[in-house]
Amino acid sequence: MFYSEDLIEEIRSRNDIVDVISGYVKLQKKGASYFGLCPFHNEKSPSFSVSPQKQMYYCFGCGAGGNVFTFIMEYENYTFVEAVKMLAQRAGVTLPEVEDSPERKKEASLRQTLLEINKLAAKYFYYQLTQPQGEYARAYLDGRKLSHDTIVKFGLGYSNKFSNDLYQYLRGRNYDDYTLKETGLVTIDEKRGGYDKFWNRVMFPIMDVNNRVIGFGGRVLGEGTPKYLNSPETKLFDKSRNLYGLNLARRSRRPNMIICEGYMDVISMHQAGFDNAVASLGTAFTSQQASLLKRYTDEVLLAYDSDGAGVKAALRAIPMLKEAGLRARVIDMKPYKDPDEFIKNMGMEAFEERLSKAKNSFMFEISIMERDYDMNDPEGKTGFFNGVAHKLLEFSQELERNNYIEAIARGYGIAYEDLRRLVNQYGLKSGFGEENISRPKPAASRREAGDREEAIVTAQKLLLTWLSEDTRLFAKIDEWVGPDDFTEPLCHEAALKVFDEFYTKGTVTPARIMNLFENKEEHDAIARAFNTTIRDESDKAAKEKAVNETIKRIKLNSLDRLSKNAKDIQTLQDIIRQKSRLQKLHISL
Ligand code: CTP
Ligand code: MN
Repeated sequence: MFYSEDLIEEIRSRNDIVDVISGYVKLQKKGASYFGLCPFHNEKSPSFSVSPQKQMYYCFGCGAGGNVFTFIMEYENYTFVEAVKMLAQRAGVTLPEVEDSPERKKEASLRQTLLEINKLAAKYFYYQLTQPQGEYARAYLDGRKLSHDTIVKFGLGYSNKFSNDLYQYLRGRNYDDYTLKETGLVTIDEKRGGYDKFWNRVMFPIMDVNNRVIGFGGRVLGEGTPKYLNSPETKLFDKSRNLYGLNLARRSRRPNMIICEGYMDVISMHQAGFDNAVASLGTAFTSQQASLLKRYTDEVLLAYDSDGAGVKAALRAIPMLKEAGLRARVIDMKPYKDPDEFIKNMGMEAFEERLSKAKNSFMFEISIMERDYDMNDPEGKTGFFNGVAHKLLEFSQELERNNYIEAIARGYGIAYEDLRRLVNQYGLKSGFGEENISRPKPAASRREAGDREEAIVTAQKLLLTWLSEDTRLFAKIDEWVGPDDFTEPLCHEAALKVFDEFYTKGTVTPARIMNLFENKEEHDAIARAFNTTIRDESDKAAKEKAVNETIKRIKLNSLDRLSKNAKDIQTLQDIIRQKSRLQKLHISL
């Protein structure tokens, strides 16, 4: 960071967050906070809150959050430095002329330039499409039933037949070979000079969630190979962390997201009104993309091609989606190959119906498994149900497992009790009693460990919220917990700062603490940490119980961790003593 911390803090404190955000979002006071419609995702009822006390905003819908700097960065697409400059000006603070470190400056300016060039290229391609030389490309898009509006909305274009005209155009704009090479749009050859990567193709600009062009896909007009050509990875373009169409889909009013295989699928779905469709970028779906989706939704529908490759892709994606905490369902497109063809032949109502009938991912996996067995042969049938029973052990919760047993019994003609017995047998075989079959498989126990982990992180976040809201709590808890009991790395960092600020200044300003975190993910995570609420906080007895339980949970977890690392008996004995002292913990509010 190249302005001093004090200066940053001065600028922050002179820009009241309610004031600033009111310039962008209509806010209404409700209790201690203000609420409005979130500018970062599409919604009908306000879940975007701004707290004058904490000087922070947080959206309960999409999880966006931060202080006044974060807001400006996100809303205006500014870098941190740009946001600082703007807010300094707004508050009449003069900034000293300070230089960034040379590497950092170079890196930032290269990224900026690459964005600029990509935008220029997208405009150039669009222009080509509208010109006489774009005739065949226009006819191609027309043949694929894309409307003019759709073409504009997705910024489609055409790279014409000359093999270096984009290169010449950009050179004419005074970009040097080194920079142009970094865009991935041209290749520089020692002898032949520069030439374009894309020619005679329909161009699909790929945008990040903030509508910035970060790369391109290009399709041949008609037959030819390769059918699609994509920009290589660059300083801007990370294929595993972006999704085609997400810039639009994130604002959809639909309750879930649809993942499909291709650019054309996304486009025709949006055109038919399914504006929640996204696709990966010419590569297989990744777990980072699953986490990205989780920021905007809880449920994903898979609309992969109905062929073998599509089924395989779905089977691969399902565990990643589940791991990210998403529910997954699979859309049946048969007899058509992909959503594009389906919609063209059957129309949007028929597709809507397929959406509502999308199969739960577990039932989908089972139906694929069924294909491996001859269900008319007793042996095949037995094999299948054994496989099913085994797979049912994935569910660690008995109720959930039984619900699935019931669904399968109904759908596959086996008696509920028979299947249940089979499942229990498997549970026993793997060394667990019936009541314990919850933990026979590593996948399941990983999930349970995950739940436990999540509960502890939530506890740490809750305590941070309470401390920042009522500083009297510090005196009450300080004999029990300190910053080092916060084991989750971001909570720990925040806790160090919260405690330090309280003991040096007597107050806690979450927005000030936020200045010390650099990136957007950290801001969201910290905003979440400072906005963790539980139901019914107004009930004093309930709150008191929650505070005591939370502190106990945090302390026990931190003692457990200490005891794992303990090297000598004395330390261990001390930990045991502390644990038993914890039984006596009672904090009254
Ligand atoms: N793809 C690619 N390179 C190829 C073929 C496909 O990168 N040679 C990627 C593209 O991102 C494409 C996706 O895989 O969008 C799906 O491929 P496919 O199903 O073949 O494309 P469609 O969307 O059906 O293409 P179209 O409808 O234009 O034929
Ligand atoms: Mn297709």
